[in-house]
Amino acid sequence: MEQQERLIWIVDFGSQYTQLITRKSRELGYSSEIITLKESRKRIEAGQRPKAFVLSGGPMSVSEDKNDYEFLIGLDDIPTLGICYGMQLMARHYGGTVEKGIQGEYGHAKIHFQGEKFPGCPNDFNVWMSHFDHVTKVPDGFEAVLMSNNNLLAGIKHKEKALLALQFHPEVEHSEHGKDILRHFYEDMALLQKDWSAAAMLEEAKELAASVKEDYVLCAFSGGVDSLVAATLCHEVLGDKVHCFFVDNGLLRPQDYHHIELLKEKTPLNIEIIDAKDLFLGKLKGEGDPEAKRKAIGTTFIEVFEKKVHDYEDSHNIKFKYLLQGTLYPDVIESLSPHDEDGKSSTIKSHHNVGGLPERMNLELLEPLRFLFKDEVRVMGEQLGLKHEWVHRHPFPGPGIGIRVLGEIDEASIKKVQDSDQILFEELHNFKVYDAVWQAFTVLLPVNTVGVKGDARAYEQVICIRLVNSTDGMTAEWSDVPRDFLSKASSRITNEVAGITRVVYDITSKPPGTIEWE
Ligand code: XMP
Repeated sequence: MEQQERLIWIVDFGSQYTQLITRKSRELGYSSEIITLKESRKRIEAGQRPKAFVLSGGPMSVSEDKNDYEFLIGLDDIPTLGICYGMQLMARHYGGTVEKGIQGEYGHAKIHFQGEKFPGCPNDFNVWMSHFDHVTKVPDGFEAVLMSNNNLLAGIKHKEKALLALQFHPEVEHSEHGKDILRHFYEDMALLQKDWSAAAMLEEAKELAASVKEDYVLCAFSGGVDSLVAATLCHEVLGDKVHCFFVDNGLLRPQDYHHIELLKEKTPLNIEIIDAKDLFLGKLKGEGDPEAKRKAIGTTFIEVFEKKVHDYEDSHNIKFKYLLQGTLYPDVIESLSPHDEDGKSSTIKSHHNVGGLPERMNLELLEPLRFLFKDEVRVMGEQLGLKHEWVHRHPFPGPGIGIRVLGEIDEASIKKVQDSDQILFEELHNFKVYDAVWQAFTVLLPVNTVGVKGDARAYEQVICIRLVNSTDGMTAEWSDVPRDFLSKASSRITNEVAGITRVVYDITSKPPGTIEWE
């Protein structure tokens, strides 16, 4: 799958914020991609050039990293923006001095302009800093444009060329006017023409899908945002050659069944539902270890899926060549340290649920969303005519309720989670909390506690409500939701779900907790 040329190459020196630079650049209308040093060297040697470079921040110290990356810094006078470590590399390259600080600047810092302000920015504002080393001598040809209130250089700009270097992180939300600063670099200094829009994004994804031509495409369909948008996009381009298979593992919530039925009815997608509830339950019987449960669910999924798909191929006299996956950009981005130029070429997160399938079934991967972030996929879904609530669904893990009944699973425990989740979701909607949280679910804890039901003593199980806010699931904060909502959900769960005497609310963030309990 070839990707279109991007205006901006964001060279990744390992900053935790690199993805944000891409997102912000795209929001401003400029196509950009994250590449490693190794990839940038390869492309430059092959004669390729971006319209602009952004050199990201990084965890290293320029005083320890003696390489000045001359192959890309200063190359053909290509407009370059250096951020944090990127600023220090540029400063050193052009003859400035970088020194180890006695004390770094971390977190919020106030900065101010030295001379002319950038369009849209006030004279002083708050930005996000995270550095120890700093530039102490402005290189020849540059001028200091921004200073921190600690009297350290916060920004230098070349007097003639399109070269800008910033000690702070304009890509981070905490930096006020970060977007104005990026806009100033792209628009006024690098003179880039906008090329990234929802329409352009859709066009490119369609081109990727069209590369399949006459072949049949198989989709392991979950009904989640990514597989739904990927399947709808491919269906629009390839029509009925796209076949979706949904495996009912019996570990779904009532709303998931309803959702799949709705999609079957309301979209043109060809969705086959495979009922494998009993098989999954059988495989999970007596298994209490979280990892063993996950593994059992994963391998059973692959077994069931493979068998059903082969039967389907035989009975319909077709042969699938591609496996459609809703892989997103964050899963694809290579994460290499710049010193590891010869390291392995990419680290792609294995898909939780269909790992190994393409090799086993001899299928090629089709990943039309592989250049997109989740919010871009949502926009694309709406462009394709999918309903707002379908493309704003919370994530739901492949192993489903299997990892939300702690310890051993049986039908009765699954039912408790299904019933409590149903109540939780009704109340999330009633109190209009659904869109304010990123993920919401209930967990059945394997402990009994004493309670009073009617006039009698009860000794029954505990349901935990888990609500989190996050952007990508990598880190998360527990959600501070209205007390009335929690109170209503708790009282309904203890009253309406058989076998539950107590409800607790999880106030653990990630890290140190994970989002799921198993
Ligand atoms: P954790 O528990 O790792 O979860 O903090 C982060 C996000 O990933 C989801 N998750 C999974 N999704 N298969 C999936 O498809 C899995 O095995 C799995 N484990 C966790 C979790 O729901 C959360 O959104």
